[in-house]
Amino acid sequence: MQQEFNINFSGRGHLYTPEEIEVVVKAMTQADPLTQGKYRDQFEQKFAAYQQTKHAFAVCNATAALEMAAQLCQFKPGEEVIIPTHTFTATAYPFLKKGARPVWADIDPDTRVVTADTLAARITPQTKAIIVVHLYGYVADMPAIMDLAREHQILVIEDAAQAIGATLNGIKAGSFGDMGVFSFHSHKNISTLGEGGMLTVNDDRYAAVLPMLRHNGHAAFNFERSDYWLPGMGDVDFPELNGERLWPNNFCLGEVECALGTKLLDRIDDMNTARRRRAIDIIDSLSDYTELVFQREDSDRHNYHQLVGWFSNGKRNDFMRKMANDKKIKCILPYYPLHHNSMYKKLGYGTADCPNTDRFFSQMTSFPFHHWLSDEEIASMVAATREVLKELRS
Ligand SMILES: Cc1ncc(COP(=O)(O)O)c(C=O)c1O
Repeated sequence: MQQEFNINFSGRGHLYTPEEIEVVVKAMTQADPLTQGKYRDQFEQKFAAYQQTKHAFAVCNATAALEMAAQLCQFKPGEEVIIPTHTFTATAYPFLKKGARPVWADIDPDTRVVTADTLAARITPQTKAIIVVHLYGYVADMPAIMDLAREHQILVIEDAAQAIGATLNGIKAGSFGDMGVFSFHSHKNISTLGEGGMLTVNDDRYAAVLPMLRHNGHAAFNFERSDYWLPGMGDVDFPELNGERLWPNNFCLGEVECALGTKLLDRIDDMNTARRRRAIDIIDSLSDYTELVFQREDSDRHNYHQLVGWFSNGKRNDFMRKMANDKKIKCILPYYPLHHNSMYKKLGYGTADCPNTDRFFSQMTSFPFHHWLSDEEIASMVAATREVLKELRS
């Protein structure tokens, strides 16, 4: 039987303003074509300016961005990619599809993301790339990670799917590495109607192949034509990088989504600030219950995509059970470490020396924290949390 909740872990991160709905209706009624048009160009330009990267490519989701990032790595047999095992599956499998061997990295127990030290422990002569995930919306220590990667000449892909707008030393998550990946999925801090993503790069060589890689290998003929329809409307070819052919995809994002994404960028910083204020208020109002440990980051290094706590008293499951059954509040347990999942086990990647990850995962919980929770719901969630924590102490 489906369990009913008073406060759900919503599948929807935020609502839309009347102005945003107007933008959608206008694009719906006026866009021609409905994909690959001026709204895409506007979204990409505004996103690149927001991120301070040279190029941005809108795609149908972050998984598609990761698929293309994996293609751009051009893995040779035996090459390795270092990936945190505490992440969403799409961080990893696109790289495995392209032939890379995953090497699982541990997280830092306090920040819950990888560090230069946890990554350095995994570097071998075969390491081609590192995927840094700014999980829950917190920016990993990118300056130290970039120093490490440059020293070893390793590519860095930032999975900033959850971290839009989060900033370290004035630089946005996703703008430190060789490639940055963003998601506008339904859950995320901004969503382009459920699906959407972006891939950012600075390297012009990547930027030169990405349009063809994203859109079926469509290319203009490389000779003068007297009639626009001859010898056909257009050519298709392989996008080529370093003299190697890459297979194209169709990973385009529609014009309505792009128009909305452009508009949402006006509001992202305010939405992130509101999330962070709320998170800090909640954390502070529970601070006398020291057995529930939050990461308190009162700066724009954290966009609080999720509000995650960890139980130092080993009572996570009792807490979640009481919250669900007695208080009707749905906390969840995202990101079962990848090496424990069937897909990775079947491939022989079912073991990892990641004690911090296992320790954190065994006692963590993620609270409902969508942007449209009312102040009353937040207050009642805090009150319920306090009551349950008190009961668990007795
Ligand atoms: C860390 C991380 N990477 C990648 C993705 C994939 O994003 P999308 O759903 O846009 O493909 C997600 C989405 O949940 C994510 O959380």
